[in-house]
Amino acid sequence: MAACLACQEPGPDETGYHPRCARALFGTKRPPQVEADSRRITELGLEMIRHTTLSGVQQKLSMSLVGGRLIVTTAGLEATHVLKPPSSIFAHLPENEAVSMRVMALARVAVPPSGLVRTADGKLAYVVRRFDRPGIPRKLALEDFCQLAQLPPKDKYQGSLEQCAQLVRRHTGEPIVQLSRFYRMALANWWVGNEDLHRKNLGLLRTASGHIELAPAYDVVCSRLYLDRQDLALPVNGKDRNLRLRDWQKFGAYCGLPPRAVERTVQSVVAVKDRAVQLVVDSYLPADLKRQYIALLEDRTAQLA
Ligand SMILES: Nc1ncnc2c1ncn2[C@@H]1O[C@H](COP(=O)(O)OP(=O)(O)OP(=O)(O)O)[C@@H](O)[C@H]1O
Ligand SMILES: [Mg+2]
Ligand SMILES: [Zn+2]
Repeated sequence: MAACLACQEPGPDETGYHPRCARALFGTKRPPQVEADSRRITELGLEMIRHTTLSGVQQKLSMSLVGGRLIVTTAGLEATHVLKPPSSIFAHLPENEAVSMRVMALARVAVPPSGLVRTADGKLAYVVRRFDRPGIPRKLALEDFCQLAQLPPKDKYQGSLEQCAQLVRRHTGEPIVQLSRFYRMALANWWVGNEDLHRKNLGLLRTASGHIELAPAYDVVCSRLYLDRQDLALPVNGKDRNLRLRDWQKFGAYCGLPPRAVERTVQSVVAVKDRAVQLVVDSYLPADLKRQYIALLEDRTAQLA
């Protein structure tokens, strides 16, 4: 039995989703129809990279949920979702991002509702609900860690996660709470094999009540399934490879967390390993990528022991 397209767990109804998962992702019990087929989405995505406020290099589309249909955002429509079509370079990227976001959630990292949708031609695309548009017409300000440091986007790989921690300390209202969220997010990104946690994949969000806090996680994929350049795009404790528990302990101390808090955070990630493996088993990835993903989770968990 195929897993729920959103939560990646067994037992969806005939729509492919659990009703509660469809509701979380789309606000309705039944999933929307996706307007375009994957080729059209890819064309529009390439176009969008040139014109959009959504920065980045991968194809993605701004979408609007209108009357039970998910359509490409045009003038006058409120953007509600971001959609990423299959990639011509990296196999099964939507399936990878969908399960990786669920693994992040298991590790207690805040994530927006996300999952897979079928395009008009039956291909799987990744879709995520925008966390900066909680209610129309309100829009929350998101500033990424290039903007916060007044660096141009091309410098997204510059610096270290320690420098990013300083930005969290400097710009948020409750730095201790936000730094401990930041620490968990960094650790979990490494744990799932996302080597591309750069400055533009981290952001601060001004909430509706005016507080500035760490934005939920976005753009999390197990890039280790495709690349083996480094373990982290921004180094921790001076290292971007072969990180050990010791490095994460030092980084925790740098973030101002007491040793016991670091220990608890690490253990809470380690503790969900078996459930994370089960999610990968149930996911839409093909068998060989599942095997590699599971081996990585086992290996990273062992590094934290
Ligand atoms: N759920 C979301 N809600 C609001 N904004 C989002 C969301 N997901 C992504 N974004 C914004 O869109 C940008 C691009 O999305 P994302 O990073 O997922 O795509 P990408 O093309 O893979 O990025 P890159 O190639 O730069 O790593 C993000 O930098 C962020 O500003
Ligand atoms: Mg990105
Ligand atoms: Zn579900």
